[in-house]
Amino acid sequence: MKRTLLILMFGLGPSTAALAEPDRVVEARTLTTALQQQLGAALKQAIASGGPQAAIEVCQVRAPEIAASLSSDATVGRTALRVRNPDNAPDAGAREVMTAFATRIDDGEQGGLEHFEQRADGSARYMRAIITQPMCELCHGASLASGIAEELALRYPRDAATGFRAGELRGAFIVDWPEDAP
Ligand code: HEC
Repeated sequence: MKRTLLILMFGLGPSTAALAEPDRVVEARTLTTALQQQLGAALKQAIASGGPQAAIEVCQVRAPEIAASLSSDATVGRTALRVRNPDNAPDAGAREVMTAFATRIDDGEQGGLEHFEQRADGSARYMRAIITQPMCELCHGASLASGIAEELALRYPRDAATGFRAGELRGAFIVDWPEDAP
């Protein structure tokens, strides 16, 4: 199937400010910001009350729940080039977009890396880069505290989401509209 008719790229620079942005981009920013904030709040609260090891369970349970609660016509989620949960694995298109994000970050671009594609069949996809923060290294870094490493190995035997450093691309938020979405 021919996949992409039109690909529009959005950055946050002043050069793109004049472009009229599709409604779906605006909607996707709202949805992914909500996912980011709700998940961030749940994570911080869990770390504060039970420590990072206990917060792993919260992440495992709450991340898919929050994503599902924000999904309706559009599916909202997270993905990455290296995933912890295999359910979050990217398809070929998402992999391509994140590879491009990683290159842009290597080239010194900072913040607000977005991608939007509206396809000929009416389906669409929005993605926004997730950058590794220092606190993410607790569970995604190169050297994990022993309790954390064990807990992760138990819950995610095929975990590939470690070895990240602050500033690197960790993954992306992704919003997908199916063919028949309004
Ligand atoms: C307390 C441990 C912990 C911390 C801290 C943490 N994560 Fe995670 N992260 C997880 C777990 C557990 C999963 C798997 C969730 C699931 O099963 O859906 C995950 C999954 C992800 C995913 C989805 C892709 C994948 O690998 O499955 C992204 C993206 C992600 N984390 C980014 C971050 C970012 C960015 C930060 C810092 C702001 C962060 N994480 C901090 C535990 C953590």
